[in-house]
Amino acid sequence: MSNRLPLIAGNWKMNLDHQQAIALVQKLAWTLNDAGHDYKSVETAVFPPFTDLRSVQTLIDADKIEFSLGAQDLSKHESGAFTGEIAGSFLKKLDVKFVLVGHSERRSYHNENDEVVQAKTAAAFKHGLIPVICVGETLEELENEGAAAVPVRQTLAALANHAELGEFVIAYEPVWAIGTGKVATPEEAAQVCAKIREAIADAHSPEVAAATRILYGGSVKAANVAGFLKSTEVDGVLVGGASLDAEEFAGIVRFQKHISL
Ligand code: 13P
Repeated sequence: MSNRLPLIAGNWKMNLDHQQAIALVQKLAWTLNDAGHDYKSVETAVFPPFTDLRSVQTLIDADKIEFSLGAQDLSKHESGAFTGEIAGSFLKKLDVKFVLVGHSERRSYHNENDEVVQAKTAAAFKHGLIPVICVGETLEELENEGAAAVPVRQTLAALANHAELGEFVIAYEPVWAIGTGKVATPEEAAQVCAKIREAIADAHSPEVAAATRILYGGSVKAANVAGFLKSTEVDGVLVGGASLDAEEFAGIVRFQKHISL
Protein backbone atom coordinates (compact mmCIF):
# COMPACT_ATOMS: atom_id res chain seq x y z
CA MET A 1 0.00 0.00 0.00
CA SER A 2 1.11 3.57 -0.66
CA ASN A 3 0.19 6.57 1.49
CA ARG A 4 -2.63 7.46 -0.91
CA LEU A 5 -6.05 6.89 0.70
CA PRO A 6 -7.70 4.00 -1.16
CA LEU A 7 -10.86 4.95 -3.04
CA ILE A 8 -13.65 2.42 -3.54
CA ALA A 9 -16.15 3.88 -6.00
CA GLY A 10 -19.50 2.42 -7.01
CA ASN A 11 -20.76 3.47 -10.44
CA TRP A 12 -24.44 2.53 -10.44
CA LYS A 13 -24.82 3.42 -14.14
CA MET A 14 -28.52 3.71 -15.14
CA ASN A 15 -29.82 1.62 -12.25
CA LEU A 16 -32.00 2.43 -9.20
CA ASP A 17 -34.53 5.22 -8.83
CA HIS A 18 -34.25 7.62 -5.90
CA GLN A 19 -36.21 5.40 -3.52
CA GLN A 20 -34.13 2.35 -4.37
CA ALA A 21 -31.03 4.51 -4.00
CA ILE A 22 -31.97 5.42 -0.42
CA ALA A 23 -32.60 1.77 0.42
CA LEU A 24 -29.22 0.71 -0.98
CA VAL A 25 -27.22 3.42 0.80
CA GLN A 26 -28.97 2.65 4.11
CA LYS A 27 -28.32 -1.06 3.75
CA LEU A 28 -24.71 -0.43 2.81
CA ALA A 29 -24.16 1.76 5.88
CA TRP A 30 -25.84 -0.78 8.20
CA THR A 31 -23.76 -3.60 6.75
CA LEU A 32 -20.52 -1.66 7.19
CA ASN A 33 -21.47 -0.49 10.70
CA ASP A 34 -22.36 -4.05 11.76
CA ALA A 35 -18.97 -5.19 10.53
CA GLY A 36 -17.24 -2.49 12.63
CA HIS A 37 -15.88 -0.83 9.50
CA ASP A 38 -13.21 1.83 9.94
CA TYR A 39 -14.48 4.58 7.65
CA LYS A 40 -11.20 6.46 7.85
CA SER A 41 -9.16 3.60 6.36
CA VAL A 42 -10.66 3.97 2.90
CA GLU A 43 -12.79 6.49 1.02
CA THR A 44 -16.09 5.09 -0.20
CA ALA A 45 -17.93 6.91 -2.96
CA VAL A 46 -21.23 6.23 -4.69
CA PHE A 47 -22.12 7.48 -8.17
CA PRO A 48 -25.93 7.34 -8.53
CA PRO A 49 -27.93 8.62 -11.51
CA PHE A 50 -28.58 12.39 -11.50
CA THR A 51 -32.17 12.00 -10.30
CA ASP A 52 -30.99 10.21 -7.13
CA LEU A 53 -28.30 12.69 -6.10
CA ARG A 54 -30.46 14.96 -3.96
CA SER A 55 -31.98 12.04 -2.05
CA VAL A 56 -28.61 10.39 -1.42
CA GLN A 57 -27.05 13.70 -0.41
CA THR A 58 -29.86 14.36 2.09
CA LEU A 59 -29.51 10.88 3.56
CA ILE A 60 -25.75 10.87 3.99
CA ASP A 61 -25.91 14.36 5.42
CA ALA A 62 -28.74 13.62 7.89
CA ASP A 63 -27.36 10.25 9.05
CA LYS A 64 -23.72 11.42 8.91
CA ILE A 65 -22.71 8.51 6.73
CA GLU A 66 -19.08 8.86 5.69
CA PHE A 67 -19.59 8.28 1.99
CA SER A 68 -18.54 10.67 -0.75
CA LEU A 69 -20.96 11.51 -3.51
CA GLY A 70 -20.14 11.29 -7.19
CA ALA A 71 -22.00 12.01 -10.43
CA GLN A 72 -21.68 9.99 -13.62
CA ASP A 73 -21.19 12.87 -16.06
CA LEU A 74 -21.33 16.65 -16.38
CA SER A 75 -21.71 19.16 -19.17
CA LYS A 76 -18.70 20.88 -20.62
CA HIS A 77 -20.84 24.04 -20.78
CA GLU A 78 -21.58 26.51 -17.99
CA SER A 79 -25.32 27.00 -18.51
CA GLY A 80 -27.80 27.85 -21.24
CA ALA A 81 -29.56 26.17 -24.13
CA PHE A 82 -28.20 22.64 -23.73
CA THR A 83 -31.33 20.58 -23.22
CA GLY A 84 -30.82 17.56 -21.02
CA GLU A 85 -27.37 18.52 -19.78
CA ILE A 86 -26.24 19.05 -16.18
CA ALA A 87 -23.79 21.79 -15.22
CA GLY A 88 -20.88 21.28 -12.84
CA SER A 89 -22.20 24.13 -10.69
CA PHE A 90 -25.45 22.20 -10.08
CA LEU A 91 -23.46 19.20 -8.91
CA LYS A 92 -21.28 21.27 -6.62
CA LYS A 93 -24.38 22.74 -4.99
CA LEU A 94 -25.46 19.18 -4.09
CA ASP A 95 -22.15 18.50 -2.31
CA VAL A 96 -21.04 16.23 -5.12
CA LYS A 97 -17.30 15.65 -4.75
CA PHE A 98 -16.40 13.46 -7.73
CA VAL A 99 -17.58 13.26 -11.31
CA LEU A 100 -16.86 10.53 -13.85
CA VAL A 101 -15.61 11.81 -17.18
CA GLY A 102 -14.97 9.79 -20.28
CA HIS A 103 -16.49 6.53 -19.09
CA SER A 104 -16.17 4.04 -21.93
CA GLU A 105 -19.96 3.88 -22.23
CA ARG A 106 -20.02 7.64 -22.83
CA ARG A 107 -17.12 7.40 -25.25
CA SER A 108 -18.78 4.67 -27.27
CA TYR A 109 -22.54 5.44 -27.05
CA HIS A 110 -22.29 9.24 -26.98
CA ASN A 111 -19.24 9.73 -29.18
CA GLU A 112 -17.22 11.43 -26.48
CA ASN A 113 -13.73 11.82 -27.87
CA ASP A 114 -10.59 12.99 -26.09
CA GLU A 115 -11.44 16.62 -26.82
CA VAL A 116 -14.83 16.35 -25.10
CA VAL A 117 -13.26 14.49 -22.18
CA GLN A 118 -10.65 17.25 -21.84
CA ALA A 119 -13.38 19.92 -21.85
CA LYS A 120 -15.40 18.05 -19.23
CA THR A 121 -12.27 17.67 -17.11
CA ALA A 122 -11.82 21.44 -17.36
CA ALA A 123 -15.45 22.00 -16.33
CA ALA A 124 -14.93 19.74 -13.30
CA PHE A 125 -11.79 21.66 -12.25
CA LYS A 126 -13.59 24.94 -12.72
CA HIS A 127 -16.35 23.94 -10.31
CA GLY A 128 -14.12 22.35 -7.69
CA LEU A 129 -15.20 18.81 -8.55
CA ILE A 130 -12.67 15.97 -8.71
CA PRO A 131 -12.86 14.38 -12.15
CA VAL A 132 -12.50 10.60 -12.21
CA ILE A 133 -11.05 10.31 -15.69
CA CYS A 134 -11.89 6.91 -17.16
CA VAL A 135 -9.47 5.41 -19.65
CA GLY A 136 -9.05 2.00 -21.21
CA GLU A 137 -8.46 0.02 -24.35
CA THR A 138 -10.85 -2.11 -26.38
CA LEU A 139 -10.00 -5.72 -27.19
CA GLU A 140 -8.94 -4.69 -30.69
CA GLU A 141 -6.68 -1.95 -29.32
CA LEU A 142 -5.23 -4.42 -26.83
CA GLU A 143 -4.35 -6.77 -29.67
CA ASN A 144 -2.90 -4.02 -31.88
CA GLU A 145 -1.16 -1.75 -29.39
CA GLY A 146 -0.81 -3.67 -26.12
CA ALA A 147 -2.53 -2.70 -22.90
CA ALA A 148 -0.97 0.61 -21.88
CA ALA A 149 -0.83 2.71 -25.07
CA VAL A 150 -4.47 3.79 -25.27
CA PRO A 151 -4.99 4.45 -21.54
CA VAL A 152 -1.80 6.52 -21.41
CA ARG A 153 -2.82 8.49 -24.50
CA GLN A 154 -6.33 9.13 -23.14
CA THR A 155 -4.92 10.20 -19.76
CA LEU A 156 -2.51 12.71 -21.28
CA ALA A 157 -5.20 14.09 -23.59
CA ALA A 158 -7.61 14.68 -20.70
CA LEU A 159 -4.90 16.44 -18.68
CA ALA A 160 -3.55 18.60 -21.50
CA ASN A 161 -4.05 22.36 -21.81
CA HIS A 162 -5.33 23.21 -18.34
CA ALA A 163 -4.03 26.45 -16.84
CA GLU A 164 -3.71 24.53 -13.61
CA LEU A 165 -4.51 20.95 -12.66
CA GLY A 166 -6.86 20.42 -9.75
CA GLU A 167 -7.04 17.10 -7.93
CA PHE A 168 -8.05 14.27 -10.24
CA VAL A 169 -8.37 10.49 -10.20
CA ILE A 170 -7.66 8.13 -13.08
CA ALA A 171 -9.75 4.96 -13.50
CA TYR A 172 -8.16 2.35 -15.73
CA GLU A 173 -11.02 0.27 -17.08
CA PRO A 174 -10.15 -2.06 -19.94
CA VAL A 175 -13.26 -1.94 -22.13
CA TRP A 176 -13.13 -5.71 -22.65
CA ALA A 177 -13.40 -6.24 -18.87
CA ILE A 178 -16.46 -4.05 -18.26
CA GLY A 179 -19.58 -6.02 -17.43
CA THR A 180 -18.18 -9.09 -19.12
CA GLY A 181 -16.89 -11.09 -16.17
CA LYS A 182 -13.47 -11.01 -17.90
CA VAL A 183 -10.96 -9.44 -15.56
CA ALA A 184 -7.45 -8.14 -16.11
CA THR A 185 -5.00 -10.00 -13.91
CA PRO A 186 -3.76 -8.01 -10.91
CA GLU A 187 -0.33 -7.91 -12.58
CA GLU A 188 -1.74 -6.52 -15.85
CA ALA A 189 -3.77 -3.90 -13.99
CA ALA A 190 -0.77 -2.87 -11.87
CA GLN A 191 1.48 -2.60 -14.92
CA VAL A 192 -0.90 -0.31 -16.78
CA CYS A 193 -1.52 1.82 -13.67
CA ALA A 194 2.27 2.15 -13.25
CA LYS A 195 2.66 3.26 -16.89
CA ILE A 196 -0.11 5.84 -16.46
CA ARG A 197 1.62 7.18 -13.33
CA GLU A 198 4.96 7.38 -15.15
CA ALA A 199 3.35 9.27 -18.02
CA ILE A 200 1.77 11.77 -15.59
CA ALA A 201 5.17 12.26 -13.93
CA ASP A 202 6.82 12.92 -17.30
CA ALA A 203 4.11 15.20 -18.69
CA HIS A 204 3.35 17.07 -15.46
CA SER A 205 5.43 16.38 -12.35
CA PRO A 206 6.51 13.55 -10.09
CA GLU A 207 4.60 15.25 -7.25
CA VAL A 208 1.33 15.24 -9.19
CA ALA A 209 1.93 11.60 -10.17
CA ALA A 210 2.67 10.60 -6.59
CA ALA A 211 -0.45 12.31 -5.27
CA THR A 212 -2.86 10.91 -7.87
CA ARG A 213 -5.07 7.95 -7.12
CA ILE A 214 -5.24 5.47 -9.98
CA LEU A 215 -8.04 2.92 -9.82
CA TYR A 216 -8.76 -0.32 -11.65
CA GLY A 217 -12.26 -1.11 -12.92
CA GLY A 218 -13.84 -3.98 -14.82
CA SER A 219 -15.70 -6.93 -13.25
CA VAL A 220 -14.41 -6.20 -9.73
CA LYS A 221 -16.09 -8.25 -7.00
CA ALA A 222 -15.52 -8.91 -3.30
CA ALA A 223 -13.81 -12.17 -4.26
CA ASN A 224 -11.17 -10.59 -6.55
CA VAL A 225 -10.67 -7.06 -5.15
CA ALA A 226 -7.82 -7.92 -2.78
CA GLY A 227 -5.66 -9.12 -5.67
CA PHE A 228 -5.79 -5.69 -7.35
CA LEU A 229 -5.22 -3.70 -4.21
CA LYS A 230 -2.18 -5.65 -3.10
CA SER A 231 -0.14 -3.64 -5.57
CA THR A 232 1.06 -0.21 -4.47
CA GLU A 233 0.27 0.98 -8.00
CA VAL A 234 -3.50 0.46 -7.67
CA ASP A 235 -5.17 2.89 -5.28
CA GLY A 236 -8.71 1.63 -5.43
CA VAL A 237 -11.41 0.28 -7.68
CA LEU A 238 -14.30 1.57 -9.78
CA VAL A 239 -17.09 -0.97 -9.48
CA GLY A 240 -20.15 -1.32 -11.73
CA GLY A 241 -22.49 -4.30 -11.29
CA ALA A 242 -21.21 -5.37 -7.89
CA SER A 243 -21.88 -1.91 -6.41
CA LEU A 244 -25.64 -2.49 -6.70
CA ASP A 245 -25.61 -5.18 -4.02
CA ALA A 246 -25.02 -3.83 -0.50
CA GLU A 247 -23.34 -6.93 0.87
CA GLU A 248 -21.14 -7.44 -2.15
CA PHE A 249 -20.09 -3.77 -2.23
CA ALA A 250 -19.48 -3.77 1.53
CA GLY A 251 -17.20 -6.77 0.97
CA ILE A 252 -15.27 -4.71 -1.59
CA VAL A 253 -15.06 -1.67 0.69
CA ARG A 254 -13.64 -3.96 3.39
CA PHE A 255 -10.94 -5.30 1.07
CA GLN A 256 -8.23 -4.71 3.68
CA LYS A 257 -9.58 -7.64 5.63
CA HIS A 258 -8.36 -9.91 2.84
CA ILE A 259 -4.93 -8.38 2.48
CA SER A 260 -2.19 -9.15 4.90
CA LEU A 261 -0.31 -5.87 5.00
P1 13P B 1 -18.48 -3.74 -14.03
O1 13P B 1 -17.90 -3.74 -12.61
O2 13P B 1 -19.94 -4.07 -14.05
O3 13P B 1 -17.65 -4.58 -14.95
O4 13P B 1 -18.40 -2.23 -14.56
C1 13P B 1 -17.21 -1.55 -14.48
C2 13P B 1 -17.46 -0.12 -14.79
O5 13P B 1 -17.72 0.24 -15.92
C3 13P B 1 -17.41 0.85 -13.68
O6 13P B 1 -17.40 2.15 -14.16
